[in-house]
Formats: sequence, C-alpha cells, structure tokens
Amino acid sequence: MSGTDENDPDTALQVDDLTVRYGQVTAVAGLSLRVPSGSVVAVLGANGAGKTSTMRALAGSIRASIDGRARLFGGSILGLSAHRIAARGMVLVPEGRQVIAPLTVEENLLLGGYRQRSRARLRELMAECHELFPILHERADSPAGLLSGGEQQMLAFGRALMSDPRLILMDEPSMGLAPVMVDRVMEAVEALHRRGASILMVEQNAASALQVATHAYVLDQGRIVCSGTATEVGSDPVVAQTFLGLREQAQAGQAAC
Ligand SMILES: Nc1ncnc2c1ncn2[C@@H]1O[C@H](COP(=O)(O)OP(=O)(O)OP(=O)(O)O)[C@@H](O)[C@H]1O
Ligand SMILES: [Mg+2]
Repeated sequence: MSGTDENDPDTALQVDDLTVRYGQVTAVAGLSLRVPSGSVVAVLGANGAGKTSTMRALAGSIRASIDGRARLFGGSILGLSAHRIAARGMVLVPEGRQVIAPLTVEENLLLGGYRQRSRARLRELMAECHELFPILHERADSPAGLLSGGEQQMLAFGRALMSDPRLILMDEPSMGLAPVMVDRVMEAVEALHRRGASILMVEQNAASALQVATHAYVLDQGRIVCSGTATEVGSDPVVAQTFLGLREQAQAGQAAC
C-alpha cells in the first residue's frame, strides 16, 4: 500500500514536499517523510537545519509561508490552527519546553488537558501522567520554574499527554541537559511510545535519539539527505561523519544512503 494513500491505517503522518519560508529565507525545502503508526521517527540535524521550522509548520504554530502537504491519519492538516490539529490527535512538545514557570506543575498539566470535556477522563489522564512520571506527582504543588531542566521536560511531556494524543511531535527534548538527564528523557520518550503514541522527534543529539528511534531522517539545510531504519542511518559512515558527529560509526559502518 502506498504511503500517501489517504486511508492507509499504517501511516500516522505523511508529509510531502514541505517548504517553509520566512520572507526570502527558505528554512525547509521540499521535505517529505512518513511516520508509520506506532513508530518513533527521529529527524536529525545540526543548528539551523530547519528542525523547529518543520515541527512548527506541522503543528500549526508558525508565522511563515508554507507549501506542501501533510496528512494526519489520512486528514489534511497543513494550514490548520494548532488547536484544530490538537483536536485531531497531534500535539507539539516545543523547543525549550515552554512550561509556565509561575504556575504549579499540576496547573501546567491541566493547561494541557484544556480540551477534555469529561472530568473523569481528565482525572484518568492526570493519573497516567503521575504513573509515567512520578516526579510530576511528587512536585504537583511546586511552581514549574523550580524544576530542573530534565524535570521540566517530563512536565512538557506530561502536558502533551494530557491532550490524549495519538502522535506527539518533540522538538529537541534533550536540549541543554546533562548526559544523565538526556538518558532519562529518552527513557520517557520510550514510555510514551509504549503507552501507544507514535512519535516524531527532531534532535541534534543523534546518538541518543537513534537509541530510541525505529526510523530516522537526516536534515541538512532544509533538505532530507538520508533516511532509513535508525540502525541504517546511524551506521552510515558518511552520514555519521558529515552530519551527525558520530566518530565510531564513521570509521566502521556500511553506507546506507
Ligand atoms: N522567524 C524567522 N525569521 C527568519 N528566519 C528564520 C526564522 N526562524 C528561523 N529562521 C531561519 O530558518 C533556518 C532554520 O531555522 P530552525 O529554527 O528551523 O532550525 P533548527 O534546526 O531548529 O535550529 P536549532 O538547532 O538552532 O534549533 C535558519 O537559517 C534560521 O535562521
Ligand atoms: Mg530548533
């Protein structure tokens, strides 16, 4: 079955020929990718590669000129507002977490659940957040601004979970974290995946992202330059050396792209 088939149940998100321009600046130039249902897809790229522009264009939270097509569970989403896209089951965990510092952890989580009409469902989702990320229960009454960077990332994940998403977009969840916290954040990504969400994550930290990803793409100056399974992409010597800074693989891999 074709990946662009509107009714393909195996595809959570299909993006074709996405272009994002800020005036004269082209940040994303004809990007195509597919997120199979139930997968964790990593888009790897250096500073300025176009990662955030891609995420924000897909999530409906950008001021830019956008072209191309994106279908979420078969329905067209490009150009819809962020809250309409959220209502269709996709939510963005933004770059830099963007928790509301003076509000408590619990209040931040409730903001993520603003669309839930049923109080019982809201309670269930809150309980799930607490079970997946116990720190959010322990620190429920703390202002979010007092949490560490890694804890704030858990909160940003929890806030996304409160909208009961089927697909979660993540913009550099490891950014600015110490290595031990990066590992914990990647474990949290796996926990969200096990819970049933498909995940599309953009990352600069290729080594960590490839440990949890099933599929990967490499983005360079707004263009996809390589794609494959996470193993294929991580072991491609040229990609490893040129784009990802993965020295070991650069010496001993097979070309995949
Ligand atoms: N609002 C904007 N106006 C003009 N140019 C922008 C704007 N936002 C981003 N750009 C440019 O678009 C390109 C891609 O930026 P983007 O933020 O998408 O990259 P990124 O991969 O997320 O980078 P980083 O790793 O630094 O987060 C860069 O050249 C950037 O300077
Ligand atoms: Mg970015």
